[in-house]
Amino acid sequence: AVKRKTAPDILARKNGEPIVMLTSYHAHTASLVDRYCDVILVGDSLGNVMHGFETTVPVTLEMMILQGHAVMRGSKQSLVVVDMPFGSYEASKEQAFHSAARIMKETHCGAVKLEGGARMAETIAFLTERGIPVMAHIGLTPQSINALGSFRSQGKDEAEALARGENVSGPIQNDAIAVAQAGAFSVVIEAVAEPVARKITQTIAIPTIGIGASSACDGQVLVLEDMLGLNARVPKFVKKYGNLGSMIEEAIQDYANEVRSRAFPAPEHVYGGKLKA
Ligand code: KIV
Ligand code: NA
Repeated sequence: AVKRKTAPDILARKNGEPIVMLTSYHAHTASLVDRYCDVILVGDSLGNVMHGFETTVPVTLEMMILQGHAVMRGSKQSLVVVDMPFGSYEASKEQAFHSAARIMKETHCGAVKLEGGARMAETIAFLTERGIPVMAHIGLTPQSINALGSFRSQGKDEAEALARGENVSGPIQNDAIAVAQAGAFSVVIEAVAEPVARKITQTIAIPTIGIGASSACDGQVLVLEDMLGLNARVPKFVKKYGNLGSMIEEAIQDYANEVRSRAFPAPEHVYGGKLKA
């Protein structure tokens, strides 16, 4: 039997082989991602991708648990990380523990992810001290969209100062240091310019996993449906490795045409008992 990767296995990859992470929300895609990746993220991006929400704000704990369980059933060797949805952890460290414990008990996943840096440090410490590995998520934090106003890259001032050669700190670097000190086993950095991602990666002792944060990070993550070409509109940082959207559309068109022309089903698709001529 294959041994499933753990949060400590991922932590041990700091300054090592790059960490490969993709999202999955289903047993089927999980089994494919599982063959090639180290970490499968059951992201709350499922709100956008599966349910058609404009933001991740409406996603519930029940949605995350249902899909997390499906991904655990579909995978064998990857660490499965389940996102804590908006409203399930921000109010207090006790609320966060209660929600994270439910996720772990009901899905059997190996870790949870939550958004926020310094402001979530106390919660991250509370969870990790109580047996729940936490992946942090800083930079662009999509659950805060209503406060941010729009999805755009974060830490411009910090990046410009670093690019000028000034050895300055800033809010995103402080967030990274805070979550690492609090005990997070890794941190996702989203939509942050390279100088900041590079400095953070060199500074903190836990792996950084970038999404729109350059190759300076210790690993990379993308939303599976985005990189497969299933979503028409994707952010600048997404490379499309496939064009599944048009493949699926062609297959559906062919099926619809063949049903209408009675070309499908053909004799080979029909059970025995031939009609007399
Ligand atoms: O929900 C998600 O898919 C994520 C990744 C984009 C990091 O949080
Ligand atoms: Na997310």
